[in-house]
Amino acid sequence: MSISGWDQMAEWWDNHLGEEGDLWHRALIDPPLLRLAGEVSGKCVLDLACGNGYLSRRFARQGAMVIGVDASAPLIERARSREARDPLGITYHVADAAHLSMLEDGVFDLVICNMALMDIEQADLAMREVARVLKQAGRWVFSLPHPCFDKVGTSGWDIEQISPTTTIWRKMSHYREMTVAEVPWLRVSGQDVHTRAYHRPLSWYIRTLHACGLAVSAFEEPEPTEEFLAASPQGPWIAEIPVHCVIEACKVTKEATPD
Ligand SMILES: C[S@@+](CC[C@H](N)C(=O)[O-])C[C@H]1O[C@@H](n2cnc3c(N)ncnc32)[C@H](O)[C@@H]1O
Repeated sequence: MSISGWDQMAEWWDNHLGEEGDLWHRALIDPPLLRLAGEVSGKCVLDLACGNGYLSRRFARQGAMVIGVDASAPLIERARSREARDPLGITYHVADAAHLSMLEDGVFDLVICNMALMDIEQADLAMREVARVLKQAGRWVFSLPHPCFDKVGTSGWDIEQISPTTTIWRKMSHYREMTVAEVPWLRVSGQDVHTRAYHRPLSWYIRTLHACGLAVSAFEEPEPTEEFLAASPQGPWIAEIPVHCVIEACKVTKEATPD
């Protein structure tokens, strides 16, 4: 597991996401994610790979009992400081999503994992853990870069302007290859900070979910909100071709070990 990039930029990430999420979260990815999450009041919610916990706090404010888990100790430290300043009853754990032994079987109504599965090295084991900790008929809602249209290093935009027409193309190669790529973020203390992104084809996600007893029940491709369109140069492009997806999967049977 490589999380040192997240450790290095924990302070920046916490300030950047704050209490509401950044533009990409707030105005593009979160609206369909929150719609699928639905009413959370009175529910047990696990925020898996919770980062600075801004979604954990949102759910807790809506009356959910929330546990947040992240592999980065510095990020969890920041989430805990926010909890200390404004107590909402959230418990945070530092743990790899693939090994959630501190959580009991069958306790959560809802597991959320926002823009993190692509960071998780052992995503198959994380899926098995999600299936284990969910109640029967419990739901997992997660977002990730769209496997068909976004792959670090081998996908990109091609904006073709042949007056009077603008055509938006999204290029993608090496789709079927399960690869890991370094994602450059920023410089902290004179050092380049990278995280790792794992690309898996869409069929891999569906197959692995099914092997864990999780059936896909919804699939969304976030469309830019007015706020995103106004603020991001990528807004009109993403309005045509989605670079993220949000998946809901329900626990339908006892979990099994993925192939
Ligand atoms: C892009 S951030 C998303 C954080 C948060 N869900 C959000 O939407 O702001 C990815 C997160 O995944 C966490 N992460 C990476 N690998 C992990 C693993 N194996 N287990 C748990 N968390 C992990 C990182 O520490 C980081 O907080």
